[in-house]
Amino acid sequence: MQKLIIKGKKELSGTISVSGSKNATLPILAASLLAKNIKLTNVPVVKDIITMLELLRFIGVDSKLENKKKSILLKNNQKKINTLAPYKLVKTMRAGVLVLGPLLTKYKKAKVSLPGGCAIGTRPVDLHLLALKKLGAKIRIKDGYIFAEAKRGLKGTKIKFPSISVGATENALLAASYAKGKTTLINCALEPEVKELMLFLKKLGINIKTSGRKIIVEGKKFVNNKVKHKIISDRIEAGTYLIAGAIAGKKIILNQVDPHFLKYEINILKKMGVKISTKKNSILILKSTNLKKINISTKPYPGFPTDLQAQLMVLMTQAKGISTIKENIFENRFMHVPELKRMGAKIEIKNRTAYIFGPAKLTGAEVMATDLRASVCLVLAGLISDKRTIINRIYHLDRGYEFLENKLKKCRAKIHRIK
Ligand code: UD1
Repeated sequence: MQKLIIKGKKELSGTISVSGSKNATLPILAASLLAKNIKLTNVPVVKDIITMLELLRFIGVDSKLENKKKSILLKNNQKKINTLAPYKLVKTMRAGVLVLGPLLTKYKKAKVSLPGGCAIGTRPVDLHLLALKKLGAKIRIKDGYIFAEAKRGLKGTKIKFPSISVGATENALLAASYAKGKTTLINCALEPEVKELMLFLKKLGINIKTSGRKIIVEGKKFVNNKVKHKIISDRIEAGTYLIAGAIAGKKIILNQVDPHFLKYEINILKKMGVKISTKKNSILILKSTNLKKINISTKPYPGFPTDLQAQLMVLMTQAKGISTIKENIFENRFMHVPELKRMGAKIEIKNRTAYIFGPAKLTGAEVMATDLRASVCLVLAGLISDKRTIINRIYHLDRGYEFLENKLKKCRAKIHRIK
C-alpha cells in the first residue's frame, strides 16, 4: 500500500496553481446524461472523476479524458443506455448517486446502489429520495439498491427540503431540468458547486431562477445538445494550500483561484493573524507568526465549510490559546483528531466541539488517513513536525487532490511517495 513520507520543518516558498473543482465537476458529469455532446475543461484528474467516468461508461456515455489538456469530451450514446449504477462503482464515491435524478427524469427508471455510510458519518440519501418522490417517482429499496420508476416521466412541483443538502439539491435540480413544468425547490444548498451546476444547466437551455435559498426550474425535454464549459477552481484545494502557507510558508502564491469563493475563510485566517492579500485570480500568503485563537462552526455555504475543518484544526494547534471547532454538518468528522494527538497536538472533543490547545509542538509519527480531508490535514501537520511523518492509506488523498506532492515539492517541501 502506498505511503507518503514527509520531512517537516522546511519553509515553503513558491507558486501553486489551483486545479479545477472536483465537487463542481461530479454533478456536471452526471448532467451529461441529459445531453449528447459535452466538452468540459479545467477538470481535475483525480480518482473520483475517473470513477464517475467509469460509471457513466457503464451506463452508456462514452468519454475521452485528455490528461494534459485537463479536458473531457462526453458523448451520450442515447440508444445503448443501461439505467443501472452498480455497488462497486458507487461505494467508493458517493457522488455516484447523482446519476439517479438524470436517469429517472430522462429514461424513466433507474436502479442505483445505496452508497452506504462512510468514515465521516452515516450519510443517508433520504432527502434525494424525498425530492424525487415529490416529482412523481415510485421508489423502493431492495437488496441495497434504490429502484426508481416514473412511467409517465417526472412532473414539476414544489419541494421543501427539511434540511440543507448539497447532493440532494443537485439531484433535484438535475431531475427537475427534464421534468414536465415548473419545479420550486425551497431551502436549497447554495455552494458555489451547486451554482456551477445551475450555470451548466442554463447552458443546456434550462430556465433557472434563484432567490435566496429558493430555486425555480422550468423543465425542458429538448436541451442544447452541444455544450462547452470551463470548471471553476477548487475552493477546498485552494483553502488547503492557504493553510499550508499560513503554517509552513515563507511566501506562497496561489494562482488560478477565485478569492471571491473563499471570502469567509480568508477572513477567518486574517482574524487569526495570517498575512494574506488577494488579487483578481491569485492569493499571496506570507509567513505568519503569533497566531491567535479563534472559534468557528461549520455551516452550509456561505459559512465555514466542513471540508476545511480538519485543515484549519492543524493551524489552530499553532495558535496561542484555546480554539474551538463545532462540526455541524457531519456527526463523525473528527477522525483525524486521534492521529493529530499522536503527533503531539492537544485536542479534546466534547459532543460536537473540538477544543484545540495551542501552541503545541508537533512531532513526526506514523499515522493513518481515514478520509479525504483528514488525510490532507495529516500532510499539513507533517509539514511542521520535526522528525519524519509517515502517512498510510493515502488512496483517500488521490480521490481529490491533484498532484499534491508535486505542488508541495515545487514549494520546496520534502515529501515523497513510496509504492
Ligand atoms: C457534499 C460534498 C462534500 C461536503 C458536503 C457538505 C460533493 C461530491 N461532496 O457532500 O465534500 O463535505 O457536501 O458540504 O459535493 N443528509 C441527509 N440526507 C440526505 C442527504 C444528506 O441527512 O439525503 C445529511 C448528511 O448526512 C450531512 C448533511 O446532510 O449530515 C449534509 O450533507 P450533504 O450536503 O448532502 O453532503 P454531500 O452532498 O454528500
